[in-house]
Amino acid sequence: MKKIFSSLILSLACTCAIAANAPELYIVPQPQSVTMAKGSFKVKGANFNYDTSLSQQTVLAVGKLAQDLYICTGRANSIASAVGVSADTPIAKLKGFFFLKDSSLPAEAYTIEVGPKAAKVCAGDHNGMIYALATLRQMMPEAIFADKTNDEVSWTIPCCTIKDKPYFAYRGIQLDCARHFFTVEQVKRYLDIAALYKINRFHWHLTEDQGWRIEIKKYPRLTEVGAFREGTQIGTDRSTSDHKRYGGYYTQEQIREVVDYAAGLGITVIPELDLPGHMLAAMASYPWLGCTGGPYQVWHRWGISDQVLCIGKEETFKFLEDVLDEICELFPSEYIHIGGDECPKKMWQQCPACQARIAQLGLKDGDGVTKEQRLQNYVTARMQNYLTGKGRKIIGWDEILEGELAMGATVMSWRGTKAGIKASAMGYDVIMTPTDCCYLDYKQGQRPEDLSGASYPRKVDYNAKKLYTFDFFESMTPEAQKHILGVQGNMWTEYIEAESDLYYMLMPRLQALSEVDWCGPECLDYGRFEASMQKKQFRILDVLGYNYRKYLAE
Ligand code: ACM
Ligand code: ZN
Repeated sequence: MKKIFSSLILSLACTCAIAANAPELYIVPQPQSVTMAKGSFKVKGANFNYDTSLSQQTVLAVGKLAQDLYICTGRANSIASAVGVSADTPIAKLKGFFFLKDSSLPAEAYTIEVGPKAAKVCAGDHNGMIYALATLRQMMPEAIFADKTNDEVSWTIPCCTIKDKPYFAYRGIQLDCARHFFTVEQVKRYLDIAALYKINRFHWHLTEDQGWRIEIKKYPRLTEVGAFREGTQIGTDRSTSDHKRYGGYYTQEQIREVVDYAAGLGITVIPELDLPGHMLAAMASYPWLGCTGGPYQVWHRWGISDQVLCIGKEETFKFLEDVLDEICELFPSEYIHIGGDECPKKMWQQCPACQARIAQLGLKDGDGVTKEQRLQNYVTARMQNYLTGKGRKIIGWDEILEGELAMGATVMSWRGTKAGIKASAMGYDVIMTPTDCCYLDYKQGQRPEDLSGASYPRKVDYNAKKLYTFDFFESMTPEAQKHILGVQGNMWTEYIEAESDLYYMLMPRLQALSEVDWCGPECLDYGRFEASMQKKQFRILDVLGYNYRKYLAE
């Protein structure tokens, strides 16, 4: 009886299949299954062999590891196509690295088998191989992250078998490039570190009251006028301005460059066109977009503006559809984020055109929903219809759930998890990004370095441990849980301007997020995560030269 019971426990433990000795590798996110074996494989000078059925993009990523090994070990790794070898070939017959296609593996999954003479790495798609490469890098001495030769370390990886796949399909990180602008090179670096931790969605916040950051050919004033503000509030005082011109934008060519670069890293870029609020920069460029006709100014201060798009005018919709046409050309993503957050209704209450639209649509107050709120539902529905016609799906902040929302929309739950729990029970897909732990602009603690200006001033103690241990599924039924696509970290940048501050705010919360998304709730283990961070990951960040927070908790 005792024996049966213990084997039952074993099989339950194996549903997340993390072997007891797995932390020895200190990989983040922790792979699903790791089995250690005796011995090690010498990677210095090892041949690289790749399956010719891998995509060119995948082979490039494999080649990048060979190149980095050459730089770091001082010995070249030759690269050749793998002839007469498949994912089924026993490792005992192999010598060197083999990167092989295994179409039987699910999306984003990979396996790594390391023996004394070979490492066999298999994946069914580009992302799977990208994650295998990230894992391999983390298995190597951290000197692999330096771009110089290091003769002092042992260039080997331990013999083991890893079988891995993600829990959540959507593993997201956001960056607000509107409040403060980050260059293409800076955005690429942000993506690089996200990719090392197997993040696969980049939510790019490109439009705001304080700046419009994406070139739209049909509306050149969006970047001529909307991309620049004539000042920024000083510190937290919203009545001030430094009167210094500030701004920048991405040309369409640069946007394509970022989208391609991200794809190489296994990351899909999801653009956000935040509407109908947060549109002052567009309204400063084209004042007819507002209820009063302006004039408007690209905002100097943070907060929520009463000035929002006029929904009474058909020209507003023509504008939005034209902009979405260009956005869809630039971003192949299945999802387009249409914002929907923080849209005050004051102007609509006063605007004859908006009120005429409300009357024409027969919208009424009732069931705790105002007619102006229903007008916002109308905007969401029109945008959703338009994008559905272009083969896309919408994501919106959780305000889109107030009133009525058509099925097929995905709700980004930011004001806590309540909206996400409600939406998932109603059958909507949900991305969890509650302020309670996923707002990466909130301070991580009260240490002197946390208390610098580079973070949201009033919020403290939003540390990596809090994110790691947060219950995203509170009282959710298993059926509702199936609608949770994943968890996302949001990096709003009102108080973040310098790139080094960005990384201090990002890490180590990025690593905690990566385990939340990759491992899923049953396989999280804070003690194991802490050990992986202390024993390996912080050292990797040191070699990479990042400014990061050295503490996971207080
Ligand atoms: C938000 O933080 N306004 C989505
Ligand atoms: Zn109006």
